[in-house]
Amino acid sequence: MATSTIKLFTTILFFVFFSQGYSKCSLKDIHVSQAITGLTVKGKPEMNVTIANWCSCAQSNLKLDCRGFQSTKAINPSILNVSGNVCLVNGGKPLLKAAVEFSYAWDTSFSFDPISSSISCN
Ligand SMILES: *[C@@H]1O[C@H](CO)[C@@H](O)[C@H](O)[C@H]1NC(C)=O
Ligand SMILES: *[C@@H]1O[C@H](CO)[C@@H](O)[C@H](O)[C@H]1NC(C)=O
Repeated sequence: MATSTIKLFTTILFFVFFSQGYSKCSLKDIHVSQAITGLTVKGKPEMNVTIANWCSCAQSNLKLDCRGFQSTKAINPSILNVSGNVCLVNGGKPLLKAAVEFSYAWDTSFSFDPISSSISCN
């Protein structure tokens, strides 16, 4: 009986560690915030976007849903590379604690929902 209790505890501990390892960071740690700058670019209001990773693990190859995204202001592709329906952030390079910023201009704000990333914890 004692042995089976120990086995049960070992199994529970294993699952706790295992699941924590996998849930330490996720796409939910990517926070996209934006603010209206008050300027206009070709008649459209300009918005500043900040993309931050709130997790201590780096997230690289971060892709955002860019379906329908439009901007009258050119965006530096090394920060946000718009390619069809998907935008690649930071040229695929790891996003650490430091946020990346860009601005765009359009009539309505765009949500830039994260769709995927590669998470690496040291
Ligand atoms: C928008 O971003 C630019 C460049 O990062 C910065 O210089 C400017 O102060 C920002 N404006 C606002 C209103 O946040
Ligand atoms: C942007 O993406 C295109 C194709 O997806 C690629 O050819 C180009 O090199 C990328 N540009 C940058 C600056 O990452």
